[in-house]
Amino acid sequence: MTTTEKNTAADREVTGASIRLDGVEKLYKGQSEPAVASLDLDIEAGHIVAFVGPSGCGKTTTLKMINRLIEPTAGKIYIADRDVTGVNPDKLRQQIGYVIQSGGLFPHWTVERNVGAIPRLLGWDKQKIAERTRELLELVGLDPDEFGKRLPKDMSGGQQQRVGVARALAADPPVLLMDEPFSAVDPITRVRLQDSLIDIHHKLGKTIVIVTHDFEEATKLGDKVCIFSKGGHIEQYATPAEILANPATDFVKEFIGSGATLAQLSLTRVRDVELQPVVTATVGEPSKDVIARAKAAKDKWVVVVDRKGHPRAWPSVKEIGTVPEISSYSDPRLPVVAPSSTLQDALDAMLSASQGGALVVDGRNTVQGWLRMADVTDIIRGQLDDAQPDEQGYTEFAEAEHGGDAS
Ligand SMILES: Nc1ncnc2c1ncn2[C@@H]1O[C@H](COP(=O)(O)OP(=O)(O)OP(=O)(O)O)[C@@H](O)[C@H]1O
Ligand SMILES: [Mg+2]
Repeated sequence: MTTTEKNTAADREVTGASIRLDGVEKLYKGQSEPAVASLDLDIEAGHIVAFVGPSGCGKTTTLKMINRLIEPTAGKIYIADRDVTGVNPDKLRQQIGYVIQSGGLFPHWTVERNVGAIPRLLGWDKQKIAERTRELLELVGLDPDEFGKRLPKDMSGGQQQRVGVARALAADPPVLLMDEPFSAVDPITRVRLQDSLIDIHHKLGKTIVIVTHDFEEATKLGDKVCIFSKGGHIEQYATPAEILANPATDFVKEFIGSGATLAQLSLTRVRDVELQPVVTATVGEPSKDVIARAKAAKDKWVVVVDRKGHPRAWPSVKEIGTVPEISSYSDPRLPVVAPSSTLQDALDAMLSASQGGALVVDGRNTVQGWLRMADVTDIIRGQLDDAQPDEQGYTEFAEAEHGGDAS
């Protein structure tokens, strides 16, 4: 059985601050029932906590009370053990990064100007702002020379979202709040953004609270997941593994429902699985040299990389044999995952590219190796066999898989 544990906060540097909600309540004007009623919640410094729950249960209200975009009607909020309910809200928000669905960028400002917004407000000098902006754009995977002067409208949704994250991190806040940041992008971009958030969190150790509609996303990102029901009532607040193994209430059972088997898959990471080595080739290289190298390594496929080592295509040795040199073709459907991707992501990538494997790249998009679909399905079977036999969903799925083998 592979490890399903995440990197605990213990093996990363913590720069984030703890957050504590103590009897927090929000009663909106003209409403008879509070949107959030008497909420107690402790978030450890350096953790990612994911808020999930049905529409209207109070996730956004709770998040916005943490940075006082919404004023609580009652209760106290502590950040790093300091009561912030009396602090000047503008000052408070300069110390809390905030990312919303569409990135929330100023449309008439260039990327640079957007990212430097808070440092400018804080009166940093120009040089320092320019350096910080470059550093952050690189951190979120955008080339500062290519994107710095662009306007948000000339970028994809995923790229805009990366700028949104860079902007939220600009003044190095200990806390980052994110409200459904990835819900407006396509599924593949979404996985990439999730992976880069995990990467950034690993590097920076901030405390992150992220609201999502998607339980699978919550289990992938959260050290802990907080499942809310109406009125900001906490049904369960625990690690993803605990929630899956022991749903605390019927509400939780129903909420995780059919997603539970899939969510189980999202607890195992690509980095937990042994990768296959790859033979790489560069554009313009004579095919016969590449074929000789592949044969020596007993490989049937070759990964074509550009000068920076980024993958472009994944042809077979046979295909290469039909041309004199390696072509510059770039495969738009190349299945690529990160070490922090879940097996669920990896399977999705393989299936949508109709390939029996996926390439694994590091944070710099350099190829590390490839993951075989057969290895993933073996692990899934192992997990399913380990699952309690009386868990209906798991056994049904396992039988279907074995049935498929026998036929
Ligand atoms: N400004 C407001 N005035 C009155 N009621 C509000 C206001 N904002 C939110 N509400 C109500 O408070 C409740 C909680 O809303 P909230 O936006 O926090 O839910 P949510 O969990 O974020 O939902 P969703 O998943 O749809 O984003 C809802 O019933 C909503 O209608
Ligand atoms: Mg909301």
